[in-house]
Amino acid sequence: MPLVRSESLLNAAVERRSAVAAFNVITLEHVEAVLEGAERAGRPVLLQVSENAVRFHGGQVLPLARAAAEAAALCGVDAALHLDHVTDPQLLRRAADAGFSSVMFDAGAAPYEQNVSDTAAAVTWAHGAGLLVEAELGYVGGKPDAPASAHAAGVRTDPVEASEYVGRTGVDALAVAVGSSHAMTTRDATLDHALIEALAAAVDVPLVLHGSSGVPDDDLRRAVGAGMRKVNVGTALNIAYTAAITAYLAENPGVVDPRKYLKAARASVASTVSDLLRVVSP
Ligand code: G3H
Ligand code: ZN
Repeated sequence: MPLVRSESLLNAAVERRSAVAAFNVITLEHVEAVLEGAERAGRPVLLQVSENAVRFHGGQVLPLARAAAEAAALCGVDAALHLDHVTDPQLLRRAADAGFSSVMFDAGAAPYEQNVSDTAAAVTWAHGAGLLVEAELGYVGGKPDAPASAHAAGVRTDPVEASEYVGRTGVDALAVAVGSSHAMTTRDATLDHALIEALAAAVDVPLVLHGSSGVPDDDLRRAVGAGMRKVNVGTALNIAYTAAITAYLAENPGVVDPRKYLKAARASVASTVSDLLRVVSP
């Protein structure tokens, strides 16, 4: 299959009243595992590269993005590239040439009016470059620079404000704070399903759930049923990746060839991906 554009996957999710899963990739093995899991589940998938992952690669976006694009082109299901949690306008401007067809511009930590003006400016530029733009209103906590927990009062997305925000910024998809939190290693987040329904009724763009690793399967299903159309997962893959390597090295302490334990990590991530795809993209 060729690499497809994010809007075709998001539009298909909207039409089917389902969701597209977006998985954060850091290494080539993440990329291969996500595509393997998607093939196994027979579902399309978004490969996400975050600004943090770009920073990990020395500020270079092209090596991982190009590898992801080439791998996606060899995959048996549709896959597209999304640049995630971008705060740096310079990185935003490199997105289209790197093969991304959508970006999340992240001004979620900014005060409302600044979030609106920064995001509107980013949308104007990105649309000119042919990129779909997701943005965040109401802060989904748990990022390294997090000012507040998503479980704290006052960080939920307000439906009236969300409607105004979408109108003023022109965003194509909206990440909302509804009870999930980034980087959870336990799956016990409590989502506000009534709020998800209210947000879905209030805005005419697809809703995006961040921090989905901490959300139990049943709540993910309910969230999609209530209107979530893109579900972002990162930490769950890293839990699987690291646990597989830890177990492999505990059983095989003499091993030095990284292919041995990375193979175990890749297989474990692929299983996690296929399981989650069956939950969020029924
Ligand atoms: O944008 C990425 C996601 O929100 C991932 O969150 O690592 O908690 O699954 P997570
Ligand atoms: Zn996120």
